[in-house]
Amino acid sequence: MDRQHILLLGATGTSGLAFLDVISELAQKPKLTLYVRPSSATKLPPWTTSNSGIRVMEGNLENKEALRTAFSPSEDKSFPAVTTVISFLGAYLSLQAVLTRDQSHPIADAFQHAILPAVKDCKVSRILVLSTPTAFCLPEERKKMSWKWWFYTMIPLLFAPQGNAEMKGIAEAVIKAGAKHDQLEWTVFRVPHLKNDDPYAKVIAGRLDRTFEGGTDLSRASLVRWVLREVEEKHWVRRAPLLGNA
Ligand SMILES: NC(=O)c1ccc[n+]([C@@H]2O[C@H](COP(=O)([O-])OP(=O)(O)OC[C@H]3O[C@@H](n4cnc5c(N)ncnc54)[C@H](OP(=O)(O)O)[C@@H]3O)[C@@H](O)[C@H]2O)c1
Repeated sequence: MDRQHILLLGATGTSGLAFLDVISELAQKPKLTLYVRPSSATKLPPWTTSNSGIRVMEGNLENKEALRTAFSPSEDKSFPAVTTVISFLGAYLSLQAVLTRDQSHPIADAFQHAILPAVKDCKVSRILVLSTPTAFCLPEERKKMSWKWWFYTMIPLLFAPQGNAEMKGIAEAVIKAGAKHDQLEWTVFRVPHLKNDDPYAKVIAGRLDRTFEGGTDLSRASLVRWVLREVEEKHWVRRAPLLGNA
């Protein structure tokens, strides 16, 4: 892990903050670049802004130039080029989006037009992004899904139309970029309901069919531990596992 330089998108969200908590406990830490919206840097825990292994870079997701700088080595060479991008980005729940059936997807657009092109330009070869089983489902999975999961995947469609549009657009943009750029080792990890409980809960990764033994809840810290393991093990490269706690 100490040879990695990870750029984290969504560091200021609940899963991003759980990621920073887990990192703070690691004996061997990766270098970290936290790419955050200018208005959100104050949400980061104070220890992250005074840590020599972490740099905070402010910019909007559509700013390709700022992204390229964030993926590149620092001028003083204390940070090498980014090796891995991890995204916990997603839309917030909003009553207005439910009522107006808003399906806009600015984050997915940024992936398509700025983040993934910058990843390619800067030769970053590994990207792991968060999506959901509702937003992205393989055709063969749809036929083999249990009734429980079918019902479960309907809920975000009704209550989070914008969040679902973002999750769908992000997964599709990453998979499409991976198809064009065969050096890109992508993983789309699909999460169910996120919670803040047991950080050491076992995480099951698999396909969304009747063989899946995971539940419909996932603790954020256990998700973070799974993502960090996957960065090292590369077990799910070019695949989209569904995750759930045992
Ligand atoms: N909660 C659940 O049970 C659940 C289940 C399945 C999927 N999800 C999805 O998983 C995502 C992560 O969940 P979470 O609860 O850990 O995160 P969260 O607290 O909702 O944080 C969302 C993150 O995305 C960023 N973000 C949101 N809109 C943005 C935009 N337009 N441009 C740039 N950045 C933007 C936020 O940045 P700022 O700090 O700058 O606002 C924040 O860092 C959720 O956003 C949701 O879509 C959630």
